[in-house]
Amino acid sequence: MAQIFERSSNALARMSLVLTGLIVIALGVTLDQLQRSPWVTRQGQRPEQPVPFSHKHHVQGLGLQCQYCHTTVEKSSYAGIPPTKTCINCHAQIWTNAQLLEPVRSSWATGESIPWIRVHDLPDFVFFNHSIHVNKGIGCTTCHGRVDQMPLMYAQNTLQMEWCLDCHRNPAKNLRPTSQVYDMAWEEPASDRPVWCAATDEKPGVPTAESVNCTTKDPSGAGAQMASLQLPLMGAHGVAPYAGNDAIETVQYKKFTSQYDLGHFLVDRYKIRTPKDLTSCEVCHR
Ligand code: HEC
Ligand code: HEC
Ligand code: HEC
Ligand code: HEC
Ligand code: HEC
Repeated sequence: MAQIFERSSNALARMSLVLTGLIVIALGVTLDQLQRSPWVTRQGQRPEQPVPFSHKHHVQGLGLQCQYCHTTVEKSSYAGIPPTKTCINCHAQIWTNAQLLEPVRSSWATGESIPWIRVHDLPDFVFFNHSIHVNKGIGCTTCHGRVDQMPLMYAQNTLQMEWCLDCHRNPAKNLRPTSQVYDMAWEEPASDRPVWCAATDEKPGVPTAESVNCTTKDPSGAGAQMASLQLPLMGAHGVAPYAGNDAIETVQYKKFTSQYDLGHFLVDRYKIRTPKDLTSCEVCHR
């Protein structure tokens, strides 16, 4: 076949192909960066709320528990945002004339809820559930940071898929005893900060996490690796089965001084699924 183009134009065409390729790659990288930037994920941003509600004042200052306001966090997928009634419990008496609280009072008067701006908001095609995380030993701070030190709420983490997967690939590094999920100051165990756990037999109908008891206070008081305590025999939910029952059981506490050991013990005891199961697409996209 006769040559239609001259050699030089061939080189030019090749050049422009390479150039186009480079531009596409550069664009791709930029878009990818952009998609991960705080501007898109809104990580760290404090949206202007109708009322400048301070977790720092209400949690750290007044000592209120998270569940006081986020009542469904252990029971449902949704943690819950408190109704105006919860604020009025106190603010019918405290700061009753403050201008800052005007939207609270008018919400109470009209019955229309306060239009809080959502700080965390996953797309609709992602399934998320608070109760399973909280009941399997992931603390609020692991995902939300030191909420007790936030004058205004912001997102500590990106909530992007990669962030979820990073933990689902290796939950052991983030697991803590379920008794500590609300502890804002929780730190992983260390030799000067041990945790003791005892696992009792699983009882039918009782969630697996409830058959593990952990404490940060040495149960033997003697610094031993293992501590055997004689405790009254407990029925389901830690309630003695009947009054006057003097049966006792021996509970073996094991001492943990690293997150690695504690994490793997809890993965086993809480019956956490394998990384392969936890990263399969159907877990979060149903
Ligand atoms: C006195 C009530 C109250 C208490 C106690 C409280 N919160 Fe909140 N929380 C709110 C209100 C009201 C909002 C919505 C306004 C905002 O985002 O600041 C909120 C918002 C949040 C959000 C962001 C919701 C969103 O829009 O994505 C998180 C996360 C949160 N709280 C975590 C916690 C944690 C963790 C604790 C315990 C350490 C806690 N809260 C204790 C009232 C409370
Ligand atoms: C347990 C009682 C209690 C509850 C419940 C409560 N507050 Fe407060 N709130 C207080 C007290 C006490 C102060 C004064 C705190 C201070 O000055 O340190 C305060 C202060 C405030 C302030 C003034 C700014 C600040 O943080 O100091 C705002 C705004 C406010 N609260 C909003 C709310 C909203 C909105 C709710 C409901 C989601 C709510 N509060 C629930 C007791 C409460
Ligand atoms: C495994 C990570 C993780 C843990 C642990 C976690 N959260 Fe969340 N939280 C999220 C995500 C993700 C969202 C956004 C959910 C959505 O948009 O559907 C969220 C949203 C919220 C909201 C807004 C209302 C809602 O349910 O969407 C509140 C309030 C909240 N979390 C409080 C808490 C409290 C209190 C704890 C501890 C008891 C806690 N969270 C533990 C990841 C977590
Ligand atoms: C810090 C660790 C951690 C992070 C971050 C995390 N998860 Fe999980 N997730 C877990 C653990 C632990 C379980 C419990 C697994 C089990 O019991 O087998 C779990 C379970 C789940 C389940 C299973 C629920 C069910 O009913 O089967 C879903 C869905 C889920 N996570 C979604 C998410 C999404 C979406 C994100 C990100 C927005 C996320 N998770 C972030 C640790 C985490
Ligand atoms: C642990 C939970 C989790 C698992 C498992 C998971 N995803 Fe996602 N996925 C998410 C979250 C959260 C988002 C939303 C990210 C955002 O808003 O930036 C997302 C977003 C996406 C998107 C939209 C594009 C994007 O990146 O934002 C696609 C496509 C997707 N996932 C595909 C998959 C596939 C395919 C798998 C299986 C290999 C999978 N996901 C497994 C949590 C998960």
